[in-house]
Amino acid sequence: MSSRNLAYTDEVANATAPIYEKLSKQYDEEHWKNIAPYIYEINRLKKEKNAVILVHNYMTPDIFFGISDIVGDSLMLAREAAKTDADIIIQCGVRFMAETSKILCPEKKVIIPDPEAGCSLADAITAKDMLALKELYPGVPIITYVNTSAEVKAESDISCTSSNALQIVNALGKQGHKEVILAPDKYLAMNVAAQTDVNIIIYEGSCEVHERFSPQDIIDARKAHEGLVVLAHPECPPDVMAHADYAGSTAQMDDYIKKHQPRRSMLMTEGSMSDNVAVENPNVEMIGTSHMCPHMKRITLPKVLKALQDEAPEIVLDRDIIERAKVPVDRMLELS
Ligand code: 13P
Ligand code: SF4
Repeated sequence: MSSRNLAYTDEVANATAPIYEKLSKQYDEEHWKNIAPYIYEINRLKKEKNAVILVHNYMTPDIFFGISDIVGDSLMLAREAAKTDADIIIQCGVRFMAETSKILCPEKKVIIPDPEAGCSLADAITAKDMLALKELYPGVPIITYVNTSAEVKAESDISCTSSNALQIVNALGKQGHKEVILAPDKYLAMNVAAQTDVNIIIYEGSCEVHERFSPQDIIDARKAHEGLVVLAHPECPPDVMAHADYAGSTAQMDDYIKKHQPRRSMLMTEGSMSDNVAVENPNVEMIGTSHMCPHMKRITLPKVLKALQDEAPEIVLDRDIIERAKVPVDRMLELS
């Protein structure tokens, strides 16, 4: 089947019916007829090619529920990439996530359906900036957020994600470091600094999605929706975190909702995550926020199908960069 003759046949309808049962509130029937042939063909082809599809929590529901083998936050996807025995990894997320998979599985083909899927945090710091930091703060360990390029990771002492940043900072504290650099997300760094005795040197970077949330958004939403439970991603500014009921990575927020089943909830994070959580928790009323990550939204079913058919665009990194970047990522995986 080529991308030109994708048709909604009986076979496609039957094979995708269980997925549509879940997603019927998200897509009307006419829309589904366009989506289902892609889901069917991607799932057929990934088996044929022994490919695994890793899907971040910010992907739209058609990708999240239709074609994923593994879903999760940055840490979970990195862990799963390290474990997979597939020949090909299709990364439905942004470029730094695909690079992390390549760093952990250098012998595998890692494909990103759109290589332009970047990240404002990854763009905030370069390998040259890392060298300048080392000169400015000799001997101070540099923890870099996983939302960075492979070249930046190669200059780091240890990586972290939103789910383990505090744990990593405290682990370095226990090793005798009174001071660490946590780059490039200034808000994550400030939020961690509020919970530890280790002095954190902050770098000037931010997520273009999470920095748009304000405390007023939460105050207004609480007025409009009685009993609202607000969960916030630690890339949000500290004044937003102060108004939230719980803070955590995308997977930690997802776990919270599954476990506590609040009557209504709002996630201060990328908008698609709320749609995915709503599908899996029909008894929780999810109050949506409309901030979408333009980079994550570059990944679409047609691009995934093309990437699988062409086995491209492939993530290609220098062997030297892979070897050096693997050290901080492995350290993080060991510590968390
Ligand atoms: P998580 O690791 O929490 O999934 O976050 C990744 C990200 O890019 C958040 O904006
Ligand atoms: Fe980067 Fe923010 Fe998009 Fe996450 S949401 S990928 S941090 S720009």
